[in-house]
Amino acid sequence: MAPVPSFPIKVGHIDDVQELRKTEPTNVPQRFVRDMSERPKLAAMVPSPNDIPIIDLSKLVGSDRDEQGRQIMQLKTACEEWGFFQVVNHGIDSSVVENIEEVAKDFFMLPLEEKQKYPMAPGTVQGYGQAFVFSENQKLDWCNMFALGVEPPCIRNPELWPSKPAHFGETLEVYSREIRQLCKNLLRYIAVSLGLKGDVFEEMFGEAVQAVRMNYYPSCSRPDLVLGLSPHSDGSAITVLQQGKGSSVGLQILKEGKWVSVQPIPNALVINIGDTIEVLTNGRYKSVEHRAVTHKEKDRLSIVTFYAPSYEVELGPMAELVDKKNPCRYRRYNHGDYSKHYVTNKLQGKRTLEFAKIEPETSA
Ligand code: OGA
Ligand code: NI
Repeated sequence: MAPVPSFPIKVGHIDDVQELRKTEPTNVPQRFVRDMSERPKLAAMVPSPNDIPIIDLSKLVGSDRDEQGRQIMQLKTACEEWGFFQVVNHGIDSSVVENIEEVAKDFFMLPLEEKQKYPMAPGTVQGYGQAFVFSENQKLDWCNMFALGVEPPCIRNPELWPSKPAHFGETLEVYSREIRQLCKNLLRYIAVSLGLKGDVFEEMFGEAVQAVRMNYYPSCSRPDLVLGLSPHSDGSAITVLQQGKGSSVGLQILKEGKWVSVQPIPNALVINIGDTIEVLTNGRYKSVEHRAVTHKEKDRLSIVTFYAPSYEVELGPMAELVDKKNPCRYRRYNHGDYSKHYVTNKLQGKRTLEFAKIEPETSA
């Protein structure tokens, strides 16, 4: 089973943001209004150029060795300096990408009563609602989420797989198979870029855990006051994020203390390094804090896949990446315990990784 918290949680009233926008389009309840320090300074944001690295997967899998080597180097730089990149020519059929978007959108467009047949219980992360809310006074994200455990089968909660829209389940199965293969391929190249054997991660991960979260961000009359999704790093090994077609800018990553927008590229998938790879690589490849902002007129949809080791696995920095110059920064732990820690804490930057950090020894 997916980890669940063992303490009682009072979340108070959570407005459904799609309904709120329908009934009171200019109202932004206080629970959504961020403290000054957290508000996205949208007006001050210069339109950021598309700096996020782009990796051409067809060149990585291709037979041109020189080209492959160059792409591996680019991947290494992307992971070391950004923790985020976009993959193009990923080989996933456009119909697969389009179909999942369609069923996701159709799901969010259903009447509230229909969506509420699949409720996300407080403190859990599957179903429809808002995840990571643990108290009555916690600020809320301007977002509706629908999340499901997909693999291995034991993390599935069949009651939460919706009967509407038609073909949702099959479409998600097909999509998830393709994304799983992409994750495996990417982890292989990530291993190679670290000078490691291509299959280290696959061998280490056991039966990898895969979950999907669909995020629907309705437009907001005051995007300057709210956040679509609070700053966080992902607990996964890697994450694959698909932005809805024609998406407005929404995803931002924290780079050298500044929020940089990820410009959507048609048919590209956004990949980011999660906490697990940060630990395994002893901090060489870091998970990067990111968040989502909303838009005054446009809605935005994202479909996010988290790929992580089996909950059974014990993890820690890999011996090859620990030496005198790079002393061990994280302890060993059970990945199920880490996942439980992750889902029982609110999203708060990279705070959850404290779980694994070893305090550097202070010299006397
Ligand atoms: C996530 C996430 C960003 C987005 O779901 O973990 O970072 O743009 N989403 O939806
Ligand atoms: Ni994320």
